[in-house]
Amino acid sequence: MNFKLQTLSLAAAAKSSTDTLIVLISKHFKAGKDPLSDLIGKAIKAKDLSAEAGKLLNAYALPGVKAAKILMVGIGEARAADVKTAVAAVAAHLKTAKTANAVMVFSEATTAEALQSAVLTLADSTYVYTSTKSNPVARHLKQVDLGLVGANATLQHAFATSIAMVQGIEFAKEWANRPANHATPTLLAKAAQTLAKASHISCEVLGPKEVAKLGMGSFMAVAQGSAEPLRFIVLKYQGAAKTEAPTVLVGKGITFDTGGISLKPAPEMDEMKFDMGGAASVLGVFKSLSILKPAVNVVGLIPACENMPDGTAIKPGDVVTSMSGQTIEILNTDAEGRLILCDALTYAERFKPKAVIDIATLTGACVIALGAVRSGLFATEDALADALQKAGDDAMDLCWRMPLDDEYAEALKSNFADVANVGGRPGGAIIGAKFLHRFAQKYPWAHLDIAATAWKGGAAKGATGRPVGLLLNYVLSQETTGKTKARAK
Ligand code: BES
Ligand code: MN
Ligand code: ZN
Repeated sequence: MNFKLQTLSLAAAAKSSTDTLIVLISKHFKAGKDPLSDLIGKAIKAKDLSAEAGKLLNAYALPGVKAAKILMVGIGEARAADVKTAVAAVAAHLKTAKTANAVMVFSEATTAEALQSAVLTLADSTYVYTSTKSNPVARHLKQVDLGLVGANATLQHAFATSIAMVQGIEFAKEWANRPANHATPTLLAKAAQTLAKASHISCEVLGPKEVAKLGMGSFMAVAQGSAEPLRFIVLKYQGAAKTEAPTVLVGKGITFDTGGISLKPAPEMDEMKFDMGGAASVLGVFKSLSILKPAVNVVGLIPACENMPDGTAIKPGDVVTSMSGQTIEILNTDAEGRLILCDALTYAERFKPKAVIDIATLTGACVIALGAVRSGLFATEDALADALQKAGDDAMDLCWRMPLDDEYAEALKSNFADVANVGGRPGGAIIGAKFLHRFAQKYPWAHLDIAATAWKGGAAKGATGRPVGLLLNYVLSQETTGKTKARAK
């Protein structure tokens, strides 16, 4: 979908040649003297239209307005959430009407947040998955011209960021949605290599031999039950000076999670193709970076493999040696995410990072704790937690901080290794985080458990592209203020 931003008053919008003109109306609407204002004023007075977020009213063939169809929608107080409600309602309408082009105008001065919300919501609600359909239904909405009363530099900047964020979100959705036989570790690595064609991005892909040489015994253990060879993907984006410490993003890339010998039940097992949602979000962020080219350094690490039951698979009770040297007793082969992430966290040390953030569909317990509204956030430093929380708020991609008390690690004691890979069920999301914490001692660290937020089940089954928005905003917030704010060429 194509977006364009322009300065457009209601009077000017009346003259734009489009089939469908969408007008967003807040509670603070003040009518001017143009035909659209007049209509809106009358409709509000007659109580046919309300500025309440998501309330729609259509009009047709209005004298003085070029568009054949006018779609008026309330945006309440014009907060990001209000605009989201309103634009989602508009998008549902456009879908039914199979609208291809539209002009959408804010009827009064607006904020960067409201503008971003309109862009993100329009993109999100019109996305269609096509990769493995023989006769795919194309996305109906092709072009949206957004009109603002004063498209100043701040709004232009927010617009550009939003467009790039959409590209990243859609890249993540695309890869997460692909079935496991169309998104193998090898194919994920190829996708990463394609991203590295852009300037400032490089990619290195390690296979079983290189990973063995590094001593990633824990990651290798998970992969050993699968016929698909593992891949360890190292993406680098360099937009700032080489001396600038990078932020490292580590994405769980289990391309299919059967549970292994601790086999999962059959119902909804297909959804375990989404178990590389963390990896997809890292790829998505790099997609956005390739467009925005901010003055930051970012490393993306993706351990990618399948978790399969097989004669060669790991068994409950097996003890493996991680890259850190710590031995791990694998009591449950279904707690495999932490087994591949721990070696990636050790590998991350070599970058002397500013911070390491891992992103993982890690625990069913996090689904129970927070549901699909907020991702679970764990962090060793308050400043990092606050920055991630804010980044999520700003992208409408919410998270909620959870604790990391050492008492939770008691459950991971093992009689046969340094640590066990599972504890009990109570506090399961925190125990998973505490396992990872052992391997993240050398830098500020955060962990995002996206088990509930990375995809939706049921009739609307599909990837959400979360938490690309959160991560991208966080990375952009690291742009060296004052120093080299200049974007890379
Ligand atoms: N990928 C799953 C977590 C998951 C489950 C995400 C359901 C989304 C929905 C993960 O690998 C897993 O199986 N975790 C186990 C851990 C347990 C054995 C300690 C879980 O949550 O059941
Ligand atoms: Mn599992
Ligand atoms: Zn998993």
